[in-house]
Amino acid sequence: MIEVKDIKKGFGEKQVLKGVNVKMEAGKCNLIIGASGSGKTVFMKCLVGLFEPDEGEILYNGINFLTMDDEQRKDIRKQIGMLFQGSALFDSQTVEQNIMFPLDMFTKDNYATKLKRVNEVLDRVKLKDVNKKFPAELSGGMKKRVGIARAIVLNPKYLFCDEPNSGLDPQTSLVIDKLIKEITVEYEITTIVNTHDMNSVMEIGDHIIYMHQGQKEWEGNNKEIIFSKNELLNEFIFASEFLKDAKDMRMLEQTGKIDNDRNMDEMIK
Ligand SMILES: Nc1ncnc2c1ncn2[C@@H]1O[C@H](COP(=O)(O)OP(=O)(O)OP(=O)(O)O)[C@@H](O)[C@H]1O
Ligand SMILES: [Mg+2]
Repeated sequence: MIEVKDIKKGFGEKQVLKGVNVKMEAGKCNLIIGASGSGKTVFMKCLVGLFEPDEGEILYNGINFLTMDDEQRKDIRKQIGMLFQGSALFDSQTVEQNIMFPLDMFTKDNYATKLKRVNEVLDRVKLKDVNKKFPAELSGGMKKRVGIARAIVLNPKYLFCDEPNSGLDPQTSLVIDKLIKEITVEYEITTIVNTHDMNSVMEIGDHIIYMHQGQKEWEGNNKEIIFSKNELLNEFIFASEFLKDAKDMRMLEQTGKIDNDRNMDEMIK
């Protein structure tokens, strides 16, 4: 579990995070959604230690990451897997070398042991016969799988994914989402995903945090989000007029005050 208490982060005059409070539990996909520039990436970078917040606390299983000594921080970092936007694989290294990299960094295992682990995670993300391939030889979806394999190779307790579906078609995105969800549940990982993708929100959003201008504006799950009355959230998720109408209809339909077929005909006229 990760608990964030009142974190603030600014750059010069610009206040980006204005006091965010949130708890993210193990075994759940915690999704951060919000408009471009709302602070999702800055938030994630604070959590993994790439940015130092100006104020607040970040508790990893109850211990404040910001006041830990270097050894403790290193220990937490070892437990963090990260899937970067665009997968961020090393172009000049094979798939096997890419996935082995964290094992080289953090373990003293011999090559045979590391290779066994690499093959285990490749199997887990359902990739075959790719060990000796270079990233340029893979499709976008395959690169994401390699990125996921690398992120889980050290058995992380925490998994961070920044826009895991960027550049993927809707069906491949769904496969990646399901994989992230399965891994989260199977290994009891606390997973945090930054996304713009409403399909992901509906598919894997156990806990959704809507950020607006550096603050948590709303939180709930993928069932609650559809019926939320938060205006800013609704502006964000139902960006088109058509979807806004569809949502209103759905609400009316729930209360039995609508003739659904007739209203749908009117909407698409
Ligand atoms: N290193 C930095 N120095 C100065 N300002 C920054 C820095 N990093 C981010 N910002 C500012 O913080 C704000 C939030 O940026 P952030 O990247 O977190 O947005 P985001 O919600 O992830 O957007 P997107 O959906 O486009 O990825 C932006 O106004 C950005 O310009
Ligand atoms: Mg971002």
